Amino acid sequence: MNGTPQPEQAPEAAPAPDAAPAHVPASAAAPRPGATAEAFRIEGARALVTGASRGIGRAVALAFADAGADLALSARNEDALKDTAAEVTRRGRKAVLVPGDFARPAAAGEVVDEAAGALGGLDTLVHNAGTLPVDSEGAPKLAPLQHARQQEWDPVITVNLNSTAALCRRAHPHLAASSRASLVLMSSIAGVVGTPTMEAYAATKAAQISLARSLAVGWAREGIRVNALCPGWTRTDMTAFATEAAPLSDWLMAHVPMGRWAEPEEAAWAALYLASPAAAFLTGQALLLDGGVSVPDGGLAGIPKPASPFAEA
Ligand SMILES: NC(=O)c1ccc[n+]([C@@H]2O[C@H](COP(=O)([O-])OP(=O)(O)OC[C@H]3O[C@@H](n4cnc5c(N)ncnc54)[C@H](OP(=O)(O)O)[C@@H]3O)[C@@H](O)[C@H]2O)c1
Repeated sequence: MNGTPQPEQAPEAAPAPDAAPAHVPASAAAPRPGATAEAFRIEGARALVTGASRGIGRAVALAFADAGADLALSARNEDALKDTAAEVTRRGRKAVLVPGDFARPAAAGEVVDEAAGALGGLDTLVHNAGTLPVDSEGAPKLAPLQHARQQEWDPVITVNLNSTAALCRRAHPHLAASSRASLVLMSSIAGVVGTPTMEAYAATKAAQISLARSLAVGWAREGIRVNALCPGWTRTDMTAFATEAAPLSDWLMAHVPMGRWAEPEEAAWAALYLASPAAAFLTGQALLLDGGVSVPDGGLAGIPKPASPFAEA
């Protein structure tokens, strides 16, 4: 060898198009008229959505119903779930309630069993239920780690992270039996960027991204796609403490290059994409839906930043 690149040897025989092992499903892509619209539909899919009583989860349930899915709806508040279910049935799709409180470790398994039983299996799980640390009144309690107490850390780990593992574990046989399985974990941009005062929450959201990657690789040959969706600041009950406080909202939005709050439907449409045939070759990814928050601008964008409302406290 004299350092000159050698032409690659031609393979002895071109692999036959159907040479892939039988357990690897063929691509569903089909370049024909109408295929694009179909690729974003999930007609007849059996989907479990957690945290479906309000906010992003409710929007996911309604978007999935619009796209043709039947829904199992989970959260603690049954009245609110009934309201989501009524909207799903108004769209012509089936809705069953599978209430549960993920603060109780056994709840995740029960929710999956009831959902799969009622729908006759599961093709999609969107695990969206989540919480910030809250005080005794249920209001968000944000504090830097050095001032936060262990009893504020533990419930966030239980609800956000332990439930994720338990749901995924219990859903695995159902998803493995599906020919179009997709698992979407509702993480957060807080799991990607530094998020002081929300350390417990951010740690669980980073863990969900890691879990999505590990499961994506581990379950790929079973035909199960696993992705994390990472919304940025989105207008829901969870963020009412900021949307309803003008100085805080203005300050937060000054740090969003697109300069506005996301609406829950925007996260729902991204979740629908992840669950749909349009994303049939997408797995193990964290989709950042954040209006540009995670993109460093090096200070060159020139967006004026108001003084931090925390500085005066
Ligand atoms: N809003 C944002 O800016 C934002 C940004 C990034 C990521 N996210 C993530 O998106 C997901 C949804 O958030 P959201 O903004 O829509 O919040 P939200 O309006 O507070 O809704 C949270 C949902 O989770 C359910 N939930 C909370 N604790 C639960 C528990 N212990 N057991 C069972 N269900 C529980 C709630 O239902 P019940 O109260 O009826 O139980 C509700 O349906 C969360 O995972 C959150 O981390 C939100």
